[in-house]
Amino acid sequence: MKFFIDTANLADIKEASDLGVLDGVTTNPSLMAKEGISGQENVINHYKAICELVDGPISAEVIATDLPGIIEEGEALAALHPNIVVKVPMIKDGIKAIKYFAQKGIRTNCTLIFSAGQALLAAKAGATYVSPFVGRLDDISTDGLELIAQIRLIYDNFGFETNILAASVRHPMHIIKCAEFGADVMTGPLSAITALLNHPLTDLGLAKFLADHKKAALVA
Ligand code: E4P
Repeated sequence: MKFFIDTANLADIKEASDLGVLDGVTTNPSLMAKEGISGQENVINHYKAICELVDGPISAEVIATDLPGIIEEGEALAALHPNIVVKVPMIKDGIKAIKYFAQKGIRTNCTLIFSAGQALLAAKAGATYVSPFVGRLDDISTDGLELIAQIRLIYDNFGFETNILAASVRHPMHIIKCAEFGADVMTGPLSAITALLNHPLTDLGLAKFLADHKKAALVA
């Protein structure tokens, strides 16, 4: 399973990249706003800065919601860097745009997926990635991970090549379960990725190894 980081924070992207396990980045308009990035030129420069940090797919989301607007914005984003993947919302004109982009060889990430039917439609349109939002489904007492399993089954039934990009991942158990259920990619914050490092028995075991090593050195 590939690991993407879901942020527009350059320091977090660099830290995840330095860990050596980062395959790509996803952003969205809320994450850009959180970093105080606004205005077309600043947004474009920020995407370029992310592309310089990570050599992998970088999802950049369109703001337009009508077909001509999505196409214009998506083509401009795709032209910024070969690693840019155009993130398109799951709406009727979004599906039409995904079909258009697929025919042009422009990679897409269909975002805001909350049902298997939406994932099926996006795959049929030729989306490179679909982003089912695991955490936001959990937030409304619906099993987000169950949706990952359902999409995996449907895609495997028909050999769809669209990648399942489990999004809105919030904690390490989401990551582990996404791996079990066969998500191709997960995207989450740095905190969820680094939380995978932790186990109290690792800390205790290492402390004991180092203490024993120190004792043996004193005896010798
Ligand atoms: C998907 O690509 C979104 O950017 C993201 O995963 C949403 O996560 P959230 O529900 O934690 O905001």
